[in-house]
Amino acid sequence: MLHTTKIRILFVCLGNICRSPAAEIVCRATLLNAGLTERVEVDSCGTAAYHVGCRLDSRMLAALRHAGYEYGGHLARQLRKRDGEEFNFIVPQDDENLRDVKHMLHGCKAHIIPMCKWFPRGCDLHEVPDPYYGDAADFESVVQLLADSMPRFLEDVRAWLSE
Ligand code: 4NP
Repeated sequence: MLHTTKIRILFVCLGNICRSPAAEIVCRATLLNAGLTERVEVDSCGTAAYHVGCRLDSRMLAALRHAGYEYGGHLARQLRKRDGEEFNFIVPQDDENLRDVKHMLHGCKAHIIPMCKWFPRGCDLHEVPDPYYGDAADFESVVQLLADSMPRFLEDVRAWLSE
């Protein structure tokens, strides 16, 4: 039903301390600018349990702040089976996340769409690179890639909302 339905989007990476919370934060800022916060809910989680309960990686926090994003707090959580029923769209950040999500949520109701679907035209990457063992520049590149993906992502969000 137009203008009353809400969509829920879940970003997924491995640890839920770097890429997927960054995607959540960048997406939330995009939705705020677009006036869509009432219509779209975003969250993030990890396929692994290593960092459950941890805050955002300090290097990712620095990269986000450097790019002008505000951090409202985040505690890592692991993907759970019911996410596949409670979210409309699940967005894995890399190929391994995609494979793990498909395996863990086999047969789920949610649409599983890799983040690379919205990479800018001409971008030769096919996944959001894992910055965990990288340096500050790698974290900044991830934030930039996510931000550059938002125009095309927003086009799809608007389309989903009008379906
Ligand atoms: P994320 O990054 O999946 O983007 O949150 C990582 C976090 C932790 C590890 C790897 C990647 N780790 O190996 O502990």
